[in-house]
Amino acid sequence: MVDSAKPNYVSLDLADAPADRPFVYTNMVMSADGKVVIEGTERGLGSPVDQQLMRELRTNADVVLNGANTLRKTGSSSRLKDSRLESLRISRGQPPNPIAAVLSSSGDIPLDRLFFTSDQFRAIVYLGDTASSERVAAILATGRELVEVPATNPVPAMFRHMRETLGAQRVLVEGGPTLNGMIFDQELIDEYFITIAPRLVGGDETMTAIRSDRVSTAALVQQLKLISAVTNPETGEMYLRYRRINS
Ligand SMILES: NC(=O)c1ccc[n+]([C@@H]2O[C@H](COP(=O)([O-])OP(=O)(O)OC[C@H]3O[C@@H](n4cnc5c(N)ncnc54)[C@H](OP(=O)(O)O)[C@@H]3O)[C@@H](O)[C@H]2O)c1
Repeated sequence: MVDSAKPNYVSLDLADAPADRPFVYTNMVMSADGKVVIEGTERGLGSPVDQQLMRELRTNADVVLNGANTLRKTGSSSRLKDSRLESLRISRGQPPNPIAAVLSSSGDIPLDRLFFTSDQFRAIVYLGDTASSERVAAILATGRELVEVPATNPVPAMFRHMRETLGAQRVLVEGGPTLNGMIFDQELIDEYFITIAPRLVGGDETMTAIRSDRVSTAALVQQLKLISAVTNPETGEMYLRYRRINS
């Protein structure tokens, strides 16, 4: 099961999407003590190999989704930045880059970021229905699409829109932990990709991959099956792929 060097995530054997939502797979990088940020961002955690795997995972996605706080901290984009992978998507009848999407409650997001300015990908803001009309107007003025979702429970409506209106089969969730937590709460993480980086970060408050009030018990835990585990002696990283086992 444990191979050496790098997995190939370019053409994944992901299951078909259900009728009411896309198939959901998440990708995160964490330290050996399970932390997903250093000094407020994920920068510096993963190696160039981890970055390449992120691009390969995006190759399989119709939509790449982030939470708004990740957009604020590090930016959000669905770009592959790899002409070979872009060509592969085009040969499959897909746009070269997936749709980029962000979920926000406040609508207080930086409108000068690549997410709003790039012409290399389509982008959609899923915005809670309690955001102010000023924020709505400012987002629409960028020319990007805006889809209102119920702030009380945004995830099902957002996924339904992706599946039914965008025709999305697969959404790649790239964090952060709050967004992951909202999806975890509803048991909608179908596959979970994680890079373990050879670093220790520490800190009681430092975030882990899933932020949620819902705590599993031994009897009610979301079980995962290990699909692949690859080690890279050069980077010291481990690349894990899990699939959630439905009860
Ligand atoms: N290690 C990794 O692989 C990795 C990957 C991604 C991100 N990160 C790190 O994770 C951190 C960000 O994570 P985070 O957990 O703070 O935030 P996040 O998951 O990126 O964003 C969560 C966002 O969800 C929105 N939201 C919350 N409740 C909502 C509701 N009911 N309806 C609609 N929208 C709702 C909020 O938007 P508003 O605030 O706009 O209201 C909130 O900012 C950053 O430091 C980033 O660097 C690490």
